[in-house]
Parts: sequence; structure tokens; C-alpha cells
Amino acid sequence: AIDPLVGRLAGERHLLLYRSVFADGGATRQGLVLDVAGLGEHLRARTLAAGALPGASLAFDAGDAASPASGDGYRYRHRFAEPFDALGAQLALAPLDGGRGAGVIYALAGLVAVTGALGLFAVYRMVAVAMAYAERRSNFVAAVTHELKTPLTAIRMYGEMLRDDLVPGEAKRREYYRTITAESERLSRLVDNVLEFARLEKGAREMRVEAGAVGPVVEEVAALLAPHAASLGFALRARVEPELPPVRFERDALLQVLVNLVDNATKYARDAASREIVLACRREGDGVVVGVRDRGPGVASRHLGRIFEPFHRGEDELVRTTQGTGLGLALVKSLVERMGGTVRGDNAPGGGFEVRVALPRAAG
Ligand SMILES: Nc1ncnc2c1ncn2[C@@H]1O[C@H](COP(=O)(O)OP(=O)(O)OP(=O)(O)O)[C@@H](O)[C@H]1O
Ligand SMILES: [Mg+2]
Repeated sequence: AIDPLVGRLAGERHLLLYRSVFADGGATRQGLVLDVAGLGEHLRARTLAAGALPGASLAFDAGDAASPASGDGYRYRHRFAEPFDALGAQLALAPLDGGRGAGVIYALAGLVAVTGALGLFAVYRMVAVAMAYAERRSNFVAAVTHELKTPLTAIRMYGEMLRDDLVPGEAKRREYYRTITAESERLSRLVDNVLEFARLEKGAREMRVEAGAVGPVVEEVAALLAPHAASLGFALRARVEPELPPVRFERDALLQVLVNLVDNATKYARDAASREIVLACRREGDGVVVGVRDRGPGVASRHLGRIFEPFHRGEDELVRTTQGTGLGLALVKSLVERMGGTVRGDNAPGGGFEVRVALPRAAG
């Protein structure tokens, strides 16, 4: 659970923005400190710099500070909405000769005040975005820790039991061997993903994109992953249209993309009535689309726009029923874009989810 952002003045000069996040039985605070004077400076520069308002001044202060003695001229006090409600702004204008100019200038003054408020709102948005990212990152660390620990614990425990001959019966032993293999696979995929993501973020990932036929690679991957899918009760099929044009891709990157997409399909469609996964290659426009489709529940529309963001997961860490770190699709997107392609995910007509990777046709 996360409390809304709260603003508090710290002394005269600083605004503290913070919120409480409750997770794993504890509470943490996230927040940041804004320098009020600096903020005022920034907003003044933005709103008054044009010099359209001779003799105007804009002051930011604690919202409940008494307003200075009113002199002649025009004053406008503004209080900001939460979480900036501890702040006020005061716009003052030198007295003007009544007349034609004055009305225009007063109108402008109102505009300046509004612009100031908008400036604050922009700051607020930036803060909110940065904090949402920080929150997803910390969710991610929690998830990775969890994801590393669980398989390791299982591998170690089953390994020790097998080593010490504590497992009676061949059937049980086989089950334990299977678990150890499956958990190690999951671990390697996680480690691969984290390393690859770090390389991509650093810009240290070299792509060796070559022109070639993507169909055979997709068929190969399907054959490679079919036994694993079958062990989870899924039928994995490749459907490749004949006579596809050559496209530009890197084999390793495509492999990692498809492994992640098939992993998602087996994870999120595991309770579906039909456990079928289709890897399809179709011609589309100039290039080729590689689609991975399952028959599962798909993605709720409020998540659909965000599933390709790093660390975004469809489920909250506290109540989740599936394992994952929210890295898979972000990696898919980065890799595909580095190959010059595009990717999108949609709920398929007739049920299920399909991620479509569009690869550009090789020139010449
Ligand atoms: N085939 C799918 N069906 C339903 N939901 C999906 C599917 N693929 C992805 N999602 C949703 O998109 C989110 C992001 O997927 P992504 O692969 O990036 O992360 P993850 O599977 O949670 O973790 P990771 O892949 O790092 O182990 C998932 O948490 C899930 O909610
Ligand atoms: Mg995934």
C-alpha cells in the first residue's frame, strides 16, 4: 500500500515531499526536498522573463504567511493544490494609470499566475514519474532477490536429500531431478535477463544484425522449447508461411526474445482451458511478423500500455501468484528495437494474448 504524496514545509526555505510505502511488513518513506527559493526563481524566470509585465513581482512563500501590507496596484494570491498546499504565491503589480493598457495587463497577470501553477504541476509530474520508477525499481530488487532465493533453496534442498540417499523410490527421485533441472533453467534465464538488461542500459550490447530467413530459426526455437513446454502441459507449435522475404535480425537476440515470450505464455496461460502456444511467422507489409500467441486470460487494459516498461508487473508484489521480475518484456522491446524492429502485445480476438515482433525486410 502506498500513501499519497504529502508536502510539508521544512523551515522557511524547503518543501519536503514524501510518502509512505508499506511492504514486507515494514514501512519505508520515499521523498525529496525542494528548494522553495530555487523553485520560485525557476518559475519567475519562466513567467516574467518576457518582460511583458513592467514592475511585476512574483513571490513564493509559506501559504499561511501574512500578506504584506497592500499598497496600490494589483495583488493576486494563489494557493496551490495538494501536495503543494503548504506553498503560496503572490503576484504584485505596480499601480497603473487607468486606461486601455491596464485591463490587458491585469489579464496578463492572471495568466502569469496560472502559468506559475502549471510550472509547479510540471515539477509535480516529474517527481511523481521519478518516484514511480524508484518504486518499480525497489519492487524489482525485491522480486529478483525472491526469484534468486526460491530456486536456489529448492535446488540445494533436493540436491542434499539426493546426495544423502534420503529420497525413497525411483519416482520421487525422478521428480526431484526434474525440479532441480527446471529450477536451474529458471535461474539461468533470470541471470541472462538481468545481465542482458544491464548491458543494454549501459549501451554495451553489440548487435550483429544480419539478413536472413527467420522462419527456420523460429522452427528451431519451437523444437528447442517444445519439451520444456510439454513438461508444463503445453503444446508448442510453429506455423511458418512459405516464401517469406529475408529480414534483418540477430539470432541470439531473437532467441532471447522468443524464450521470454514463451516463458510468459507458459506462466500466464497455465490455467487456460487450452494450453496451446503458437509461434507464427507471417508476411506483413514489407517485412515479417513473428507472433507468440497463447490461449490464456490476456492482459487487462489498464496494464496493456505499460507491460513493456522495465520492472512493470501485472501483479502487485504483495499479492502475486506468479513468479517474475518484470524484465522479460522490457528486454524483448529493447532487443527488437535494436534490431530495427517493433513489438506490440494485444489481446487476441477469440481469446488469449499475442505479442507480435515485426522485423524489417533486408534491403536489396
Ligand atoms: N502472455 C501473457 N498473458 C498475460 N499477461 C502477460 C503475458 N505476458 C506478459 N504479461 C503481463 O505483462 C507483465 C510483464 O511481463 P514481463 O515478461 O516483462 O515480466 P514478468 O513475466 O512478470 O517477469 P520476468 O519475465 O522478468 O520473469 C507480466 O507481469 C504480466 O502481467
Ligand atoms: Mg516474463
